[in-house]
Amino acid sequence: MTNQPVRFSDGAGYEQMMGIWSRSVGEIFLDWVRPAAGKLWIDVGCGSGAFSQLIAERCAPASILGIDPSESQLDFARTRGLGEIIRFEVGDAMALPLDDHSVDISVAALVVHFMPDPTKGIAEMKRVTSPGGTVAAYGWDLLNGGFPYEPLHQAMRELGLPPSEPPSPQAGDAAELMRLWTEAGLTRIDARDIPVTRSFSNFEDYWTTAIKAPRIKIALEATAPDTVPNLKDRVRTNLGADIDASVTATARANAICGNVA
Ligand SMILES: C[S@@+](CC[C@H](N)C(=O)[O-])C[C@H]1O[C@@H](n2cnc3c(N)ncnc32)[C@H](O)[C@@H]1O
Repeated sequence: MTNQPVRFSDGAGYEQMMGIWSRSVGEIFLDWVRPAAGKLWIDVGCGSGAFSQLIAERCAPASILGIDPSESQLDFARTRGLGEIIRFEVGDAMALPLDDHSVDISVAALVVHFMPDPTKGIAEMKRVTSPGGTVAAYGWDLLNGGFPYEPLHQAMRELGLPPSEPPSPQAGDAAELMRLWTEAGLTRIDARDIPVTRSFSNFEDYWTTAIKAPRIKIALEATAPDTVPNLKDRVRTNLGADIDASVTATARANAICGNVA
């Protein structure tokens, strides 16, 4: 199968499939980073605004600029009604639409592995952050089974239907994040993992939620329909899920935080 680019084009679907997960990690992440109130933020790859909303609710920011290449994700973000402190604009992590040293805190939630060139992306986050400011991120530990729908990915690989890869899957790795932050010249770097769980009412709830993931959707669209029941059975087996019982899914993110000297 060709590895098609992963595009986010369904803000409401994203919210259910991934926004809930992102906020679970984001709450722990913000308690760990402990940003001061009254700061200027950029949320790089803000998508549907799941994490931007947490910043607005928990960190008393002076302002937040959320940027993302996906108009439909931004449209959903704008429906959150977060007020005038937050702007959502089309933008690219490879060339942030800000002057040097214009924010206090640059964050990227579940985005570094979507950057085509993470070294450049982190350099951009550093460039726009003032001296003494913070550059921080979290992302799924993709190469070590940390993705929330890993049992489905595993079943897909078993059936020869590998999920589409993001451009930089290695950037979910703790050691790679440390290398990126160190080589960017950030200081006082700290890192941790963030394990999270989520309950689904039953296996069907898990399945219908999981197949909204763009990487899974691309692979399923290229699959013969009669393969799907077999895939579902494998996923249920991988999850150890009874047909009607609730399903608890687990995931693990790696988080990193550093300062601009
Ligand atoms: C998994 S979503 C994360 C969204 C949001 N930060 C959250 O925590 O829910 C990844 C996002 O990265 C965005 N993205 C992909 N390539 C990007 C790039 N080059 N620059 C900025 N964002 C990008 C996608 O459009 C998508 O909204």
